[in-house]
Amino acid sequence: MKDSIINKSETIKKFIEIIDNMYRLGWDEKNGGNISVLMDEEEVKRVFGKAKTKRTIPLPLIANENIRGLVFVITGTTKYFRNVKNDPKTNIGVMRISQDGTKAEVIWGFENNGTFTSEIYAHLLCHSTRLKIDPNHHVVMHTHPLYILALTHVHELDEKSLTVDLWRTMTESVIVYPDGVGLIPWQVCGTQKIGEETAEKMKKTRCVIWPLHGIYGCENNLDDAFGLIETIEKSAQIFLLTHNHLEIINDITDQGIKDVAKRFNVTPVKGYLK
Ligand code: 13P
Ligand code: ZN
Repeated sequence: MKDSIINKSETIKKFIEIIDNMYRLGWDEKNGGNISVLMDEEEVKRVFGKAKTKRTIPLPLIANENIRGLVFVITGTTKYFRNVKNDPKTNIGVMRISQDGTKAEVIWGFENNGTFTSEIYAHLLCHSTRLKIDPNHHVVMHTHPLYILALTHVHELDEKSLTVDLWRTMTESVIVYPDGVGLIPWQVCGTQKIGEETAEKMKKTRCVIWPLHGIYGCENNLDDAFGLIETIEKSAQIFLLTHNHLEIINDITDQGIKDVAKRFNVTPVKGYLK
């Protein structure tokens, strides 16, 4: 990559690499999926200097106080993950949330008049919620993984039973998502309502499934957000490979899940296991 900004920024380099991986896994058809990552202020200073604003874009919501002034690298709306690697400046951008919370100040990228993802509500609201819980939070990742999506067509949409069915598929699932998977009802995407409901769920978990659509994951870095979603995706794949076809004769018991959680010092959601 020739762009000197990208070469200086570990965050943007990793962002591009992860997006390319997600596309190759078949999670992000067409413009499906969107990601935003909070950039630490030292990196912003080192990479962009005084970070001059190229233009401002009005936000469709007033950003919560705790994310005002923060800088995010974020995917553009209608842009294909497939194209990010070859043309990052057009397909992604770096923007600061204005001090009054009403605008995005574009510092880099979003060339040819591009703008941030249509899921800006969910991204900004989830960042705000997770930063209150965990000051090391950085990433909101939304994608359309095949098996998670397929599972929501055939599994009852109940957080508890879905979480336990996914935990049962692989011994180490409970270690990766002891807080379980959140679920919201199917609804139109790209709205403030879906953003608010997702962020509300993020108070108790780091991943929220949107039935018949995809998943949101929140984590401290891009590797962990990707790892969280790929683990849930693999659990969903195993569930679909093993149910409705053959009789289950071996399964991880509730006690087994509890024992693994104990060994690795994690606490599964209370009340989910017998
Ligand atoms: P954007 O292209 O606006 O990011 O939308 C893609 C998507 O997955 C909506 O949920
Ligand atoms: Zn989507």
